[in-house]
Amino acid sequence: MRETGREIASGSRISYPASVRSIPYNLIGGPMAEVTVKVIPNGPYRASGPFKIIDPQGSEILIEEGRSVSLCRCGGSANKPFCDGTHGRIGFQADQAARKS
Ligand code: FES
Repeated sequence: MRETGREIASGSRISYPASVRSIPYNLIGGPMAEVTVKVIPNGPYRASGPFKIIDPQGSEILIEEGRSVSLCRCGGSANKPFCDGTHGRIGFQADQAARKS
């Protein structure tokens, strides 16, 4: 199993399996990242970092603190997972309210 790790404030290092990278950091002893996702009416998800996107090949895109990206919700973007504005051209309609799962 591939291991990964993270430096913590004291300078020591903790290791954990790569498969747990999506677990909030607070569960493994550090501060939880502040991630905000806003549902845009009939549009994308607007997500504010810090967080990372991991593609199926394992490549990571780091969205730094204070930076926001729009993630496609309509399925029509040619630049997934990012929104490219296609939702407006195809007349995407979606429920307005977020629901708890
Ligand atoms: S939500 Fe914008 S292209 Fe899909």
